[in-house]
Amino acid sequence: MGILDGKVAFITGAGRGIGKAIVEAFAAEGAIIAAAARTTKEIYEICEKISAGGGKALPVTMDLKLEDSIKAAVKKAQSELGPIDVLVNNAAILTLDKLVNTSTQVWDDVMSTNVRGLFITCREVLPQMMERKSGRIINIGSMAGRRGYDEQGAYCTSKHALVGLSKVLAIETAKYGIRVNVISPGGVLTGLSSNLRADRGEPEDSPAWMTAEEVAQAAVYICTQNGAAMTDELVLRRYASEPFR
Ligand SMILES: NC(=O)c1ccc[n+]([C@@H]2O[C@H](COP(=O)([O-])OP(=O)(O)OC[C@H]3O[C@@H](n4cnc5c(N)ncnc54)[C@H](OP(=O)(O)O)[C@@H]3O)[C@@H](O)[C@H]2O)c1
Repeated sequence: MGILDGKVAFITGAGRGIGKAIVEAFAAEGAIIAAAARTTKEIYEICEKISAGGGKALPVTMDLKLEDSIKAAVKKAQSELGPIDVLVNNAAILTLDKLVNTSTQVWDDVMSTNVRGLFITCREVLPQMMERKSGRIINIGSMAGRRGYDEQGAYCTSKHALVGLSKVLAIETAKYGIRVNVISPGGVLTGLSSNLRADRGEPEDSPAWMTAEEVAQAAVYICTQNGAAMTDELVLRRYASEPFR
């Protein structure tokens, strides 16, 4: 018996990296998965793997930059799987440049994916959760949502915005029994952070960086909190980094 038995989880950025690890960890806990991303091949592959293992998973192609695409994806998941119990807003992009060199186009890409798309996804999923007076929204933030990092201006801004949105969402939805959490990891071994490791001269598979599976386990832990205890933000730093920063 898993802690997510029969629960429908809509996970964005589900095709690779942390999102894919969350899909696998949630499926292992019995969740029914809606796996969303743009790269159809990746989400179909992960869903086939879950189905082959006896689970249930639906690939939903979705581009966070396109409002209609988000609306269609949420609707498809709800009509084929039922009401969404857990929404994991995981998808994001990272660009690296000094603010002074950041083009408006790059800025807009980051904001529309990491902030606007996340907002629209929440807004589309919320009505059914409010109606049912239950639900959980896990927003995957970052250490970049807590402090500044050189050459991560657009990304840091977007992750600080995610925290602001989550704070208001938590206040506005508490009376509907909805729990809003942020997980804020430091460096994780995925494609998103590959350039960072290269810039810092660290190996691509550096053991000092967290694995996507470790972040997924934090998401599973968050889902165990159904009683009086509540972790608003779960900060997951690399053991090799400065403690309590
Ligand atoms: N890796 C790290 O070091 C690290 C550290 C802290 C926090 N995080 C956060 O963890 C989350 C996952 O990151 P990751 O490292 O797993 O990244 P990743 O490996 O690059 O995966 C990103 C996922 O987001 C999806 N995505 C990107 N743009 C999208 C769009 N416009 N519409 C729909 N889906 C989109 C990608 O799929 P498609 O391209 O197919 O759409 C992909 O599945 C992000 O929120 C990131 O900020 C990562």
